[in-house]
Amino acid sequence: MEEQNEHGKEIKDDGIIQEIVEETVQHLNNPVTDLKPIVKKYLSAVQKVKKDGNKFYFSDGDARVEIRVVSDEIIRVRLAPHGVFLDDFSYAVPVVDQKVTTFKMEELEDHYAISTNTITCKIRKDDFHISFTEKLSQMVMSEDESPMHWEENIEFGGYYVYATKKCLPEENFYGLGDKSGNMNLRGRHFQNWNTDAYSFGWDQDPLYRTIPFYLGVHQQAAYGIFFDNTFRSYFDFGKEDNQKTSFWADGGELQYYYIHGPHMMDVVKRYQTLTGTHPMPPKWALGYHQCRWSYYPEKKVKEIADGFRSRNIPCDAIYLDIDYMDGYRCFTWNKNYFPDPKRMIKELADDGFKTVVMIDPGIKVDDNYWVFKEGKENNYFCRRSDDYFMEGHVWPGRCQFPDFTNPTVREWWGNLYKELVDIGVAGVWNDMNEPAVFGAGTFPNDVRHNFDGYRGSHRKAHNVYGMQMVRSTYDGLKKLMRNKRPFTITRAGYSGMQRYGCVWTGDNVATWEHLKLGNIQCQRMSVSGVPFCGTDIGGFSGEPDAELFTRWIQLGTFSPFMRAHSAGDTAEREPWSFGEPYTSINRTYIELRYRLMPYLYSVFWEHHRYGFPILRPLVMLEQENLSNHFRQDEFTFGDKILVCPVLEQGATSRLVYLPKGKWYNFWTHEVLNGESEHNIEAALDHMPLFVRAGSVIPEYPVMQYVGEKNVDEVLLNIYYSDYEVNSFLYEDHGDTFAYEQDIYSEKKFSVKGDQKKLKIEQSVDGLYTPNYELYNYNIIGIPFKVKKITVDEQDVLDFHMDERNCLRFKSNKNFMTIKVYGE
Ligand code: GLC
Repeated sequence: MEEQNEHGKEIKDDGIIQEIVEETVQHLNNPVTDLKPIVKKYLSAVQKVKKDGNKFYFSDGDARVEIRVVSDEIIRVRLAPHGVFLDDFSYAVPVVDQKVTTFKMEELEDHYAISTNTITCKIRKDDFHISFTEKLSQMVMSEDESPMHWEENIEFGGYYVYATKKCLPEENFYGLGDKSGNMNLRGRHFQNWNTDAYSFGWDQDPLYRTIPFYLGVHQQAAYGIFFDNTFRSYFDFGKEDNQKTSFWADGGELQYYYIHGPHMMDVVKRYQTLTGTHPMPPKWALGYHQCRWSYYPEKKVKEIADGFRSRNIPCDAIYLDIDYMDGYRCFTWNKNYFPDPKRMIKELADDGFKTVVMIDPGIKVDDNYWVFKEGKENNYFCRRSDDYFMEGHVWPGRCQFPDFTNPTVREWWGNLYKELVDIGVAGVWNDMNEPAVFGAGTFPNDVRHNFDGYRGSHRKAHNVYGMQMVRSTYDGLKKLMRNKRPFTITRAGYSGMQRYGCVWTGDNVATWEHLKLGNIQCQRMSVSGVPFCGTDIGGFSGEPDAELFTRWIQLGTFSPFMRAHSAGDTAEREPWSFGEPYTSINRTYIELRYRLMPYLYSVFWEHHRYGFPILRPLVMLEQENLSNHFRQDEFTFGDKILVCPVLEQGATSRLVYLPKGKWYNFWTHEVLNGESEHNIEAALDHMPLFVRAGSVIPEYPVMQYVGEKNVDEVLLNIYYSDYEVNSFLYEDHGDTFAYEQDIYSEKKFSVKGDQKKLKIEQSVDGLYTPNYELYNYNIIGIPFKVKKITVDEQDVLDFHMDERNCLRFKSNKNFMTIKVYGE
């Protein structure tokens, strides 16, 4: 018997709901658009249930679903259309850590309920709808709109897999990593397929990286979904149908993690427990980096280096783009341009510059080239389905490409860096690893990959190719540098890529629109678990004018990764290229970056150790305020400094929204109340910056590069507050992994004042002792006349109020308590 349910789907006798749809299926490699009937199958009523430890299996008689309790706040869902699950292997989640002991399943009248201490996952009996509820409030966070479904893929085998959830009227969406356009994803449709997107546009999709993780926020609470599927995948946030949020993929398993909040910050932290955080970078990597396609010959590189030092503009790294190679052959040098790279790198290092070189995946087909020969002899290059080599044209001409999804190939590739490391190269920049191929775009679908022994075609491996390349680079460098922290930068990647390197947003354009876009992109990457991100400051292609470049330097000062880069056919693009007053302003901001180094580094630690994002958009600071769901210019770096970049040409002021609490204008020390908008002066040399009242912001003296001088004095800027605020300062060796053995120092400060007194307390954790002994105090905003100061009960005799009305004194005591008394 056949009948219709309320969705107009046919219900067949066997209980499987079938829907016949006519759909247009497009394959990238087969531009012929054909119309073919597709049979979508949906899960039907639950018939069988089985428990196995923390895993619960539900079956409708044919398909099976595994629900796994991962932690109190994380539950994983997997679908096996014909009952057999795929291998449980993921590049994003190396180990699904078991962090929960208390959970239970109950059978109720119309559903099964699996509960942890925090959440309940309900599986409805009659239609297999799955939902997630916050246990305490009983609030439904995410709920199936239709049961999970799939359709067979005749051409490649396996299934196209689909999940469709309800999209609530007031629900908004964030994350998804490398996406263009507005921060809020509601009403948009996306695709994940790593793409070389030269000069991408405001709404262009897809771009270079795949991070299939989003956050949903409604009823003031947040949750996340991580769809761990490497195939071409799609997300629709109420675009096709206002009431549906869907995600699907061209293959692989329908496997996703529900990650509970209720704060967006919790969701990101928990996502990061699955996919890992960024390791501590070498400290110099947080300095200013200068890049261009390309600086050559050696004379030019030296001229740039001298340009920085002679003008006292700090800089830590100079990049060599593809032209340093011999005919673009990776791991070789063009000896005409660079006759003695070892000497040059040493001379640069003596002057405080690290040299970072580019390495691409395309290996020139050339039997006289050792890398090609080794790769060929050992069968390391990718092959097509019928065993032909995957060949394509990139910079060197005809190339073959290592299969980075093969662990043996990764090991080989990692060791290829030996010579570069031996001559002093400090960092490696992996580009073109979407993988990009001229003309074709990328590899054809039939290219085969090892996929760490789990095998797959390029359909499955495409989105992880770049991540596995930078993984091999990172691991290789770590070994070759004898456990010094490697510095790697990659263009392509997949969830979990943050374990292996930092990223830049690719080939942007020198326009005001791209300044805005880059600001959003870096924030978005940060809430998507990839915090060490930056844009090509100034824009890769096109010509910025002086004002745009300076505003970009200002934004870049608060990008986790700060690098200026430009295409070869553009005019010179160094911080001094535009003359005065721009050079001086650019210098001031780059100096600010170095002054704030201990703060930036501490924020990085907070990410590495605790999984906090480095940049936090307003919506993350105050998700309960609906207007913030649409604000996208401002962000905090860590939780103490609020940055409001100027993104409009000719602006001399800008509107700023300050979140709850009190905020100090960084430049004027004026105290402003939060939860309101303010019009703030923003002359060319003034990017609006605010510091949260109660913060302790540490500063080091300005240096021309990280480590130029010994830090013998640390400046503590303490911003008075009448409510208690905690801050911290993290320090370590700066370039080793000793922090993994607790060789670090984490100082925690708490600041609280009243109308007559200010108390600052400190506690210290860790086994590292910084070299400095002198603390220079700068206490801002004290509302009373200071009578007496004690440091650990000893009177400070020498103190004064400076011209900006800040309380100044020095002390060589690593204090526990400072008290400032008023009259
Ligand atoms: C790509 C990169 C760019 C680089 C260029 C030459 O376009 O995205 O950063 O400069 O290739 O290597």
